[in-house]
Order: sequence, then C-alpha cells, then structure tokens
Amino acid sequence: MLLTPAGARLLDRLRGLTVTPGQALPLAAELRASYPPDLVAAALTQQALRAAARQKFSRADDMLFTRAGLEQASSELTAAHSALRFAGLDLVADLCCGIGGNLTALAGAAGRVLAADTDLDALRFAGHNAAVYEGAADVALVCADARELLSGGPRGAPLTAVFIDPARRAAGRRRRAGDSEPPLGWCYTIAGQVPRVCIKAAPGLSHDLVPAGWEAEFVATGRALKEALLWSPAFGTTSRRATVLPAGATLVASPAERLPVADPGEYLLDPNPAVTRAGLVQELGRELGAWQLDPLTAFLSLDSSVSTPFARTLRVLDSLPWNERAAARRLRELGVGTVDIRRRGLAGDVELIRRRLRLRGDRTAIVVLTRRADRPWGLICEAVADHGAGQDAAR
Ligand SMILES: C[S@@+](CC[C@H](N)C(=O)[O-])C[C@H]1O[C@@H](n2cnc3c(N)ncnc32)[C@H](O)[C@@H]1O
Repeated sequence: MLLTPAGARLLDRLRGLTVTPGQALPLAAELRASYPPDLVAAALTQQALRAAARQKFSRADDMLFTRAGLEQASSELTAAHSALRFAGLDLVADLCCGIGGNLTALAGAAGRVLAADTDLDALRFAGHNAAVYEGAADVALVCADARELLSGGPRGAPLTAVFIDPARRAAGRRRRAGDSEPPLGWCYTIAGQVPRVCIKAAPGLSHDLVPAGWEAEFVATGRALKEALLWSPAFGTTSRRATVLPAGATLVASPAERLPVADPGEYLLDPNPAVTRAGLVQELGRELGAWQLDPLTAFLSLDSSVSTPFARTLRVLDSLPWNERAAARRLRELGVGTVDIRRRGLAGDVELIRRRLRLRGDRTAIVVLTRRADRPWGLICEAVADHGAGQDAAR
C-alpha cells in the first residue's frame, strides 16, 4: 500500500516529521480528508518507524520499515563493515535480508546480489531500501526459505559468497546460545556448497559454537557490543578478531606468553567489550606493553597514558584493598562528590555502595571495584581527556 503512488505522496507529505503523541490524532483526522483511513494509519506508523530508524540509518527518512524488520536490522555502520569482505565479488546472496540493512551495503560492495526472505513485506521494503542507497549492484529479490533456495542448487550462475543473518528466536521462549532460524548449525553447512560465507550472530555467542577454521569477529560501535560475524575458512584470516567502529580498528588473535600480573601503575585500561568477548585481552596488553592486575579480570595497567580504540584509559589517583570506609575517607580527601562505580569480578550492589559512601565535593571520579592478588581491590580513577574511540564519547 505504501509503495503505491498515493502511499508515496502521503509519505512525502510526512517526510522528516517526528509526530508527538499529542499531534497524532489531529494529524490523522486531517489526512483522512484526502486519503483512505488504512493508508493514513500505515503511513503514520511508517513515519514513526522512520523517525526511530534515524539512529541506525542516515537515509531513514527515505526508507521503508516493518517494526520487526527495523528492530532486527543491522545499522548502516555495521552493515558497511561486514560488506567490506564482499567487495568486488559477483553474485552474492543475502539469504535472510529482512528490510535490507545489510543488503544496502552489500549492493554497494558486490556485483549482482540475490536477496531472499520468507517475509514478503520485509523483502519488498528491502528492494526499496537498496535502491535508496543506490548501490551499484543489480539486486534480485526472492521470497523463499533460505534452505529451499540452496537445496535446489544455485540456479544460473553459481553464487560466489553468502551473507546470512538468521532471525533470533522470539523473546520469551527459552533461548539456547546460538538458537536462530534458520538454525546456526544449518548456516555452517552452507560453506559446503558456497565456500565464502559470513553468518551474523548474537555477540553473546559461545566460542564453543564456532567450528574450527572459522573466524569469529566481535564488532562494537564505540563501547556498545553489536554483533558477532562468523567467517567461513575461505573468508577468515584469523581465529578471533575484535573490531571497533567507526574507527574500523581491528585486533586479532596471536597466541604468546601470558601477560605479567602486577600492582596497578599510573593508568588503568578498561578494554572494549569487543576485545573481552573475543578473548583478546592478552593480545591488547602485549600490543600496549601493559600488565594485568589479576589473571581472571580484564583490566590492564601501565605507567604511561595511551590512546587506543580498544580500551578506555583512566588515570589512577589511588589504589587500595577495598574497604568502604577507607575508600570514603580517601574520596572525601580528594574532594570527590560524584562517583561512577564500575564492578568487575566482585559482587555488591553499586547503588547501595554509592549511597553508603556519602560523598560531598565538586570532583568526579570513577571507582573501579575488582580483584588484585585474590583480594577485593578498589581503584579511584579519573577519565583521561582523550576522546579516541575507546572513550565513552564514542558510545
Ligand atoms: C535478523 S533478520 C535480518 C536482518 C537484516 N540482515 C537487516 O539488516 O535488515 C532475519 C530475517 O530472516 C528471515 N527468515 C527467518 N527464517 C528464514 C528462512 N528460513 N529463510 C529466509 N529468511 C528467513 C526473517 O523473516 C527476518 O527478516
């Protein structure tokens, strides 16, 4: 309905608007004078989805969304990153394309793209959205089950690569790690037919579910962990990788001796969640010449300030075995009135601790609660004025 000329005219009229709840009813009444009620309802819903989608897409106001499709869509930034390895390949398939978050980027990178989904509305919108991004590729749309599409064997020219972002199982049902539709186990088998495969999975995916020879890449936007990309052996170049966007900085596995464990130095590094999920804290520490405070927690330390997209750097003002009273006293001496408490490897209610500290003062500090030499340990820190991708500013 929205793809008809009347639908396009109505959406054009609403373009760029963020309709507040108070405006919705009078606006709907006004529009019903010129358009059928069901079209008005669909266009107003679409306009609300477009407004929400501006968080993910710079061209959201020209795109079309279903609610579920928007929720599950990759953002423009992450989609552009995952499409990089498809650059220059011809005849690529996006087997669960949804409303086309990934498709828009694949169509810009690859030659011809075959986009499939079982949801016809989402598929139509994916075709529209790919056109909005003016990718160079020819995009063919097929409403089909990914499994049937592949079991029939590729019709015409063989596929050179497959991207698949299977649907996560509906919330509310008991979820097993890696549960998806089509199931992750089936997605891996695609590589038997088309060697170059990329599977997008939830970032909480257990490493045990990644077959030998596949690369697991954990991708964060700023410090927000977004997705795991599982690259088949023909695509992969390492076993584990952490990538931080928008910088595109990437860190790969390089097994070597473990880092030394020692007392905190002048700076504390809080690794990006992509680094911790990828299990690359050791690699990051080696690259920066840092050491660990404890073999089981991710914090790193060093004596000089570094700017890295892979970690947030904090200056250590004081470091002490954790004792609330002693910490409160020291914080007051330092003039700290506001604390951001971060807990790693220790139990305790952060809000209760903050209240019990009863602080007054103008200064702001970050209190890190962790373990050092098998003891609860507290570090009073302040943020380093560096706005590299590793800092909060990039969130
Ligand atoms: C996570 S969404 C894809 C999001 C998409 N990559 C994007 O960025 O917009 C998963 C999609 O898989 C589709 N799907 C689920 N099972 C499928 C199947 N067996 N074959 C094809 N598509 C399927 C759903 O309809 C849904 O649109």
